[in-house]
Amino acid sequence: MLKDLKNRFDFFIRNKTKFSRKNFVEKNEKLLFHNYLENLYTYDILGQCLNKHPSDTAKILDIGSKNWFYAKGEYHFFKSFVQNPCLDGVEIDAFRLYSNLYSRYETAKFYTKNLKNTNYIAGDLLSINDTYDYIIWFLPFVTIEPLKYWGLPEKYFMPEKLLYHAFSLLKNGGQMLIVNQGEKEAAVQKQLFEKLNIKYTEKGIVKSRFLEYKNDRYAFVINK
Ligand SMILES: C[S@@+](CC[C@H](N)C(=O)[O-])C[C@H]1O[C@@H](n2cnc3c(N)ncnc32)[C@H](O)[C@@H]1O
Repeated sequence: MLKDLKNRFDFFIRNKTKFSRKNFVEKNEKLLFHNYLENLYTYDILGQCLNKHPSDTAKILDIGSKNWFYAKGEYHFFKSFVQNPCLDGVEIDAFRLYSNLYSRYETAKFYTKNLKNTNYIAGDLLSINDTYDYIIWFLPFVTIEPLKYWGLPEKYFMPEKLLYHAFSLLKNGGQMLIVNQGEKEAAVQKQLFEKLNIKYTEKGIVKSRFLEYKNDRYAFVINK
């Protein structure tokens, strides 16, 4: 109750002020190298899960992009078979500040620099109305505790409504990839698919030789 009050207040203030230092550049070599591995990981996982349909253009949506540290991995994966990929990333808490006083929004500008037709959208997935050939959703909040821990107001916990909306944005013939953290979240994710009658393929635990996360990650692919 008190935690939610605090989250609501902080969320309101950061979205009102949009305060941030400007022109973020990561200079720490160690962090840059780790980010390089995170992007290789992303490229690898997408390759393991998605079909590559060569085309001139494709619209791709990333949901819950945070500071979009993995945008390069996504971009280069799609660029490997689409001439002109158009990549949108939507993040509801884009103005959350890091301790260096740069927001996720400013940080995302650094991670998406020089990626053509890549667009970081500070907003709610529910306000997206475009349709997409591919949708990528890494670590959606399917249980409420992580959402509270991440500082979002509880009213934004609506996994069923969000999944339903995301599915509605997927074009016929399109593919959606959802990756969950841990066995428990994967089980909840399956219940959501079943409740909404969304057909899915279970990829099981996905791993990459480039990077290993503490918790196993489970992937699901939806073909529409
Ligand atoms: C667990 S984090 C995952 C972040 C990132 N995808 C990753 O793999 O590290 C979930 C993200 O989804 C965002 N989010 C939650 N609800 C959202 C919504 N309705 N619209 C857009 N983003 C949302 C959160 O703010 C958070 O940044």
